[in-house]
Amino acid sequence: MDNVIEIRGLTKDYETGFLFKKKIRALDDLTLNVKGGQIFGFLGGNGAGKTTTIKTLMRLQFPTAGSAKILGRDIGDIDLHRSIGYCPENPYFYDYLSAVELMDYFGRLFGYDQAARTQKTTELLDAVGLEEKDRKKQLRKYSKGMLQRVGLAQALINGPEVVFLDEPMSGLDPVGRREIRELIASLRDKGVTVFMSTHILSDIEALCDEVAILRNGKLAANGNLGELLSQNEGSRTLEVRVQGVVADAIRDKIEFIAGAAMKSTPDGANINILDEADIDAVLHVTREAGGRLISVQPVKQSLEELFVKETE
Ligand SMILES: Nc1ncnc2c1ncn2[C@@H]1O[C@H](COP(=O)(O)OP(=O)(O)OP(=O)(O)O)[C@@H](O)[C@H]1O
Ligand SMILES: [Mg+2]
Repeated sequence: MDNVIEIRGLTKDYETGFLFKKKIRALDDLTLNVKGGQIFGFLGGNGAGKTTTIKTLMRLQFPTAGSAKILGRDIGDIDLHRSIGYCPENPYFYDYLSAVELMDYFGRLFGYDQAARTQKTTELLDAVGLEEKDRKKQLRKYSKGMLQRVGLAQALINGPEVVFLDEPMSGLDPVGRREIRELIASLRDKGVTVFMSTHILSDIEALCDEVAILRNGKLAANGNLGELLSQNEGSRTLEVRVQGVVADAIRDKIEFIAGAAMKSTPDGANINILDEADIDAVLHVTREAGGRLISVQPVKQSLEELFVKETE
C-alpha cells in the first residue's frame, strides 16, 4: 500500500527562556514514511519528540524546517483535516459541556445534520465504552480515563481515513485498555490507518505492525516490529530445545561448542548457539545421551530490550 504519511526533514525548535533566546531542538530532521492500512507505533522515551511530531502534523504548530504530507496532501492544506482524526495527549475540552454536547459540537463542525450527529454520538460513545449514565455529565466531573474515551470518540466523528492518537491508553484501567485496544484493532480492520504514540510495550506488541523509535528528536529505529525484534545486534542466536536428556549429563560437551550456553528445563535443556553450523553438533550430543530435538528458533530480542537500547 502507498504511503499515507510522508514526513520529510521535519525539524522543530522551541524558543524558551528569557526573551525566547534559548532554543530547544525537540525534533531534528525527521524523515519517515507510514504505509496505509496499518497501526503504526510511534515510540520513544519522555521528551523524545512524539507529541511535538504529532502536533506539527496536526498543524497546531509550525515546523522550523521540513515538510509533511498526509494522504498525499501537504499538511498546510486545510481541507486535508476533514479526512483525519486526532486525539491529543491530554484531551482538554471546554469542560462545562457534557460528552454528548461535545460530540454534537464536533459533529456540527463537520457539517452533519441533527440525525447523523445523534447517531454518530451514540455509536462512538458506545464504541469507546463511555457509560450511558456519564454521557450527560459535565466533562469537568470526568475521570482521566473517561476524558480519554471522549477524546477518542471525538477523534473518530468524521469517519477519518487516518487517525493520530497521542498516548491513547494513558489513564485507562485494564478493562478500558483492552476495550480501546480492540477499538483500535477494529479501525485497522476497516482500513483506517492509525498512527499512535505510546509507552505501553504490551499494547505495541499486541497492535502495531510497524514502529518508529525516536531518541532526542531523531529517528533511532524504524521498521516492521517482528523484523526489528529479530535483529539481535546482528548476531543470530539460535535456541535449540531438546528433551529426554539430563542437562548436566551433556553440559561439558555442549559448553565445549564455542559460544554455546545451556539452561536446564524440567524435561531437558534449552541451548543457545551463535552459529547455525553448530546445530548438528548439538543434535549429535543430545542423541548420544538418548534425547531428542524439539525445536530450533532464532532468539528474539524482547521489545523492552529494543526500547531500552534505542532510547538510551
Ligand atoms: N511548548 C514547548 N515549549 C518548549 N519546549 C517544549 C514544548 N513542548 C515540548 N517541549 C520540549 O520538547 C521536547 C520534546 O517534547 P515532546 O512533548 O514532543 O516529547 P514526547 O516524546 O511527547 O514525551 P512524552 O512521552 O513525555 O509525552 C522536550 O524536551 C520538551 O521539553
Ligand atoms: Mg508526549
